[in-house]
Amino acid sequence: MSVIVIKFFMSNSFKTFLKHTAKDFHNQSVNPPVVRASTIIFKSMQHIRKTQAKAEKNPTGGYYDYGRQGTSTTHILQKILTKLEESYHVFTTPTGFGSVFLAIFSVMRPNDEMLVADPVYSPTRLLTQDYLKEFNIKTIFYNPHDLKTLQDNITKKTKLIFVENPGSNSFEFQDLGKIISIAKKNKIVTAIDNTWATPYYFKPIKFGFDMSIVSATKYYSGHSDVMGGSLAVNKKVFNRVKATEKITGLRLGPDDAYLITRGLRTLDIRLDRHRENAKKVAGFLSKNKKIKLLYPYKKNSYNFKMWKKYYSGASGLMGLKIKAKNVNSIKKFVNSLKLFGYGYSWGGFESLVLHQEFRETGKRRYLNLAKDEHLVRLHIGLEDPNDLIADIRQALRHLK
Ligand SMILES: Cc1ncc(COP(=O)(O)O)c(C=O)c1O
Repeated sequence: MSVIVIKFFMSNSFKTFLKHTAKDFHNQSVNPPVVRASTIIFKSMQHIRKTQAKAEKNPTGGYYDYGRQGTSTTHILQKILTKLEESYHVFTTPTGFGSVFLAIFSVMRPNDEMLVADPVYSPTRLLTQDYLKEFNIKTIFYNPHDLKTLQDNITKKTKLIFVENPGSNSFEFQDLGKIISIAKKNKIVTAIDNTWATPYYFKPIKFGFDMSIVSATKYYSGHSDVMGGSLAVNKKVFNRVKATEKITGLRLGPDDAYLITRGLRTLDIRLDRHRENAKKVAGFLSKNKKIKLLYPYKKNSYNFKMWKKYYSGASGLMGLKIKAKNVNSIKKFVNSLKLFGYGYSWGGFESLVLHQEFRETGKRRYLNLAKDEHLVRLHIGLEDPNDLIADIRQALRHLK
């Protein structure tokens, strides 16, 4: 078996790289094919041993002897993502949550402790707060806007700081530089869920994080029809993650890898437009007295300052803290939106809305939500922003 024959186009521009890399001159197609395999066949016993020896010497080189280790299709995606992340390596998993799991299980062992941002994605909270308890692993949640709660809870047993930025559904932006300096001083491994920004707007590994997660289900694929995850790592944690990947069998399949690679071709174009559209919608919403916008738009807020300090752009996902007499008027508002589909996930080409109920925000300690305040999440898609604004305007009439 030979290693990939596909040429990797190297360019300093993210945009040009995404369009030109991995053209398949071997098969004379622009995009490399889907190679499906359980058995990887070799010409002889010597060939399989040779490949295994190469894999041992060069574990990121794309050598594999069994389908669970991937095929050329998954390897191409991993190589593209490694370049985008400016990381040592990228592991790909069947879902974004698989990457969260892989990151945490690569580091945490019984009797260890971890510090997790209070507003993490709710399944990440369930995993750390409840499930890991059964393995005698303790999780302490810190306040994203008061890093004293991070600093003060570090013990000799703390092995991992897990950040999600911005906070899931409540969109708090944290002081990432401070978090990294606390972690480095205390020799604690760091991980960040960077799904909201992707490495297009923020590169965590280059910044100093050891691990960076992106749900490829969202902007990477961009078309709401595939699931996947990516876990970028630096050299320090590579071996631990590689061993955990092997033992858990968490690997993306080639068909999904192909679709995600195809989606990446237009990642920059779509994110540029999501950002422009979201900014226009945010401008409209910021004038409404019943709504507090949870998006980096108003220049004097702490969240804006923290976003501006670390990010080169903003994606299309935003939150609205709405003052309303009761949940019925929120229901009427979300149900009367015509261009916003009601459903989970985001990062596709289309606009979505979701009312955040208890199951999404769960047992948070630091969520400041008054009785008459409700959280609604909007994903601003690639439609004409004037149409989106007109739709929101008509639906807002139902807010009482
Ligand atoms: C911030 C964040 N991280 C991780 C995930 C999990 O990704 P997936 O749905 O691909 O498992 C999600 C999904 O909504 C998410 O919003």
